[in-house]
Amino acid sequence: AEVGVVLVAAGSGQRLGQGIPKARVLCGGRTLLEHSLESVVASGVAASVVVVVPAGDAVLSAVVDQAGRRTAGDRTVRITAVAGGATRAASVRAGLDALPSSAGVVLVHDAARALTPPAVFHRVAAAVRAGSPAVIPVLPVVDTVKVVTGDVVTATPDRAVLRAVQTPQGFDARALRAAHASATASDPGVTDDAMLLEAQGATVRVVEGDALAFKVTTPLDLVIAEAVLAARQP
Ligand code: C5P
Repeated sequence: AEVGVVLVAAGSGQRLGQGIPKARVLCGGRTLLEHSLESVVASGVAASVVVVVPAGDAVLSAVVDQAGRRTAGDRTVRITAVAGGATRAASVRAGLDALPSSAGVVLVHDAARALTPPAVFHRVAAAVRAGSPAVIPVLPVVDTVKVVTGDVVTATPDRAVLRAVQTPQGFDARALRAAHASATASDPGVTDDAMLLEAQGATVRVVEGDALAFKVTTPLDLVIAEAVLAARQP
């Protein structure tokens, strides 16, 4: 099946503290969106990419236009932009609406995971193609995680069964569209797409993630991303 990618880049980036949308933040001299679009295209999995940008953001729209023109010649991947919504789930929904119906497999990816290696895209897409309706890349959790109410600890889940979840998350397109049409999809507590399928009783499978697929969220993450890019220079 043909793979379509929804690349969500419509977040505000408040936790980075630069006062601009996160996808516009520079890392090694280029925007986070340029890095993440490049990693999606370089993976070679996508026939089409819909980039979801903040409404009215001329800078990010121009980044997408430019990338679209660069790939127009080889006609292997179509890249377009749409405006996002108030929540991550609303932004994914806008991206899904703009994906061609020929995309039988959909990967939803955070633009903030700007340095995600091609192998992660391949693992996720292969597992969906092999018949799993929902596939997510995960890593073991290194910290002990507590459940806290106010300033009091109420529980300590067994760390051995916990996983930290990354993107791209891969889905059978029909299953994902159905899940996003459900009532829970508008809940602001929807932090990933797999939880919408879990709510519908679908089996969500895990594949191995990658430390380099970390989400650039805080100023420290940006320092780490810059260092990774600098170490890559020949
Ligand atoms: O806020 P969070 O870190 O969960 O955001 C993950 C991804 O979702 C980011 O790439 C961000 O740009 C995107 N997002 C979006 N629209 C929103 C909120 C987040 O596209 N309203």
